[in-house]
Amino acid sequence: MACFSLKAPVLAIESSCDETACAILSPEGRVLAETVHTQAGHAALGGVVPEIAARAHLSLLPDIVRQTLENSGLALHEMGAFAACTGPGLIGGLIVGSNYAKGLALAMDRPFIAVNHIEAHALTARLPGLVATDIKFPYLLLLVSGGHCQCVAVHGVGHYEKLGGTIDDAAGEAFDKVAKLLGLGWPGGPALEKLAAEGNAGSISLPRPLIGRPGCDFSFSGLKTAVARQIEPYGMAALPRQVAADIAASFQQCVCDVMADRARHALQALPEATSLVVAGGVAANTTIRAALEQVAQEAHIPFVAPPLRLCTDNAVMVGWAAIETIRAHEQAGVMLEDGIAAAPRPRWPLGDISPAGGEAKAQARQ
Ligand code: KG4
Ligand code: ZN
Repeated sequence: MACFSLKAPVLAIESSCDETACAILSPEGRVLAETVHTQAGHAALGGVVPEIAARAHLSLLPDIVRQTLENSGLALHEMGAFAACTGPGLIGGLIVGSNYAKGLALAMDRPFIAVNHIEAHALTARLPGLVATDIKFPYLLLLVSGGHCQCVAVHGVGHYEKLGGTIDDAAGEAFDKVAKLLGLGWPGGPALEKLAAEGNAGSISLPRPLIGRPGCDFSFSGLKTAVARQIEPYGMAALPRQVAADIAASFQQCVCDVMADRARHALQALPEATSLVVAGGVAANTTIRAALEQVAQEAHIPFVAPPLRLCTDNAVMVGWAAIETIRAHEQAGVMLEDGIAAAPRPRWPLGDISPAGGEAKAQARQ
């Protein structure tokens, strides 16, 4: 049986956290339609509540898929494959999204591609037309979101090496927790950045965890505790605006310094990196972007930050990762395993993804 070759669009679903998303991409990776719905109910509860998120995915998905199909002008039977993020993430949402996509794949008798969420973030920068010149392997990915914080060497499709990650909080989580201490809403990153603009980044001395230490790991919980100690003498309610702004600016500067240091270390570990790519919601932060751009400049490589809507969770990245996976198998002459039996995985380390031509693959149903 020949390798599976994608000749028709792929319909992809993302539901690993609080974004319910669907996208339809042409076999070349052109976005034909996409819908992203960020669930609103979590903000009032101060964070994503997994059970509420899963139920919301369940009620939202049918309409979101229908709307996306309608916008593309295509029908289900015109799809060549179906894909969904099957991990890592919140298990309830993963079950809902992947089973929905599997159901469509079975009904249409098409393959189902199980996509790793981190892999999808990692490959987004290669989406056709996103940057002027194609991004070549290997490159360094810095994924900084509310749930993830890691440096990944992207050697090829399906071939990833985690160079370092957080040993406690993710960067976005640290922003959210510090914002909460300052009495700002959730998610805290954007509000904290806004407040920081009024403050003096050098006014308050805070620790810079792991800076200068070998490796590329991150740690933010000590920084959060140090911020809490600065607020303590006043109490949150009585914190003068200028002090709050100075704390926000100083905290943001610490995160910048830590990230820049870790990215420098990661580039030392991957001297052949062709570019520095950033992804995740924290990539929205202008000061952090500027700091990382500086690191890339020092290394004489381009800094690539996909547009924010593709940095945060979306289904385009899931569809694109599926296309890249299908192509990589086709090029290697290796059967692509049909993901129909792949169980959703709340934890799915990048090292568990086998590149095309790596391990023996089961035959796809097509
Ligand atoms: O990638 P994302 O939308 O969702 C996941 O976590 O998967 O990232 C959301 C995170 C939140 O923690 C939010 O506070 C943070 O990204 N964030 C920011 C900014 N905008 C969003 N952090 C710092 N500065 C920002 N401007
Ligand atoms: Zn994500």
